[in-house]
Amino acid sequence: MNAPLQGHAASNPIASAAALLAVDHVSLEYRTAQRVVRATHQVSFEIDPADRYVLLGPSGCGKSTLLKAVAGFIAPSEGEIRLQGQRVDGPGPDRIVVFQEFDQLPPWKTVKQNVMFPLLASRTLKKKEAEARALHYLEKVGLAAFADAYPHTLSGGMKARVAIARALAMQPKILLMDEPFAALDALTRRKMQEELLLLWEEVRFTLLFVTHSIEEALVVGNRILLLSPHPGRVRAEVHSHQYDLHSLGGAEFQASARHIHRLLFDEGQSPETERELDFTDIRIAY
Ligand SMILES: Nc1ncnc2c1ncn2[C@@H]1O[C@H](COP(=O)(O)OP(=O)(O)OP(=O)(O)O)[C@@H](O)[C@H]1O
Ligand SMILES: [Mg+2]
Repeated sequence: MNAPLQGHAASNPIASAAALLAVDHVSLEYRTAQRVVRATHQVSFEIDPADRYVLLGPSGCGKSTLLKAVAGFIAPSEGEIRLQGQRVDGPGPDRIVVFQEFDQLPPWKTVKQNVMFPLLASRTLKKKEAEARALHYLEKVGLAAFADAYPHTLSGGMKARVAIARALAMQPKILLMDEPFAALDALTRRKMQEELLLLWEEVRFTLLFVTHSIEEALVVGNRILLLSPHPGRVRAEVHSHQYDLHSLGGAEFQASARHIHRLLFDEGQSPETERELDFTDIRIAY
């Protein structure tokens, strides 16, 4: 079966009332003393509640920059970002970011204190309620037994789970993840993808997830936005809700991966390319 995914240009989505997050013709720039670097050019997409929405594209195409703009750390030079119809103009507890480096966990706090910290610092909850909420989410990520451990005694995968519990404990409207599993070994990475999907089944949070692995995008996402190389523009949006970790290596999955590869790199549809390209090659260079 060839290319079961539908790819369609997503350059002009009609603003729908139901969208949780609308990114509307957003251009993002970095201004240095010498020059202006355009990271994205008029990017538009919409995320609905409980979407697992993936930004996929080669290194330097502006994925992290887009995520930072949604988080409110960077203001668009063009276009606007709206959360439930409200223009985003700064960071807020309704959008929490999980970055790639889990050493963002302060080492002098226990696992539980780490999860409680944002709840207390933002005055979302009082100490007792914060503790109960922290334990609730630590249990969800399978770390209840490590509540009193310190981060340096945990494995990379466990630190990743603490970071996810800490973010979910804030009960954000949207969880933002920037290549959260990229620093993990392949097996742990796969395990974390599986756990994230199980957690999503249970909590049904809304996720915006950045990766440059086609495989990870297909497994984690229900929709994938494909971005062109620098500056990032929308190439297409594809649906991927039919896949999970059990689909890996299957014929349909591989066909979808090749289809995405072609859309990303604008390659022809020659049968030779199809035959020559082994699945293991389908990964954008790190
Ligand atoms: N602080 C900065 N100052 C100037 N230019 C920057 C800055 N941060 C990023 N850029 C530039 O903006 C562009 C987009 O960068 P960004 O980090 O968003 O890419 P990315 O898609 O996340 O890449 P990767 O997959 O490597 O993480 C790149 O050309 C990068 O060089
Ligand atoms: Mg990045």
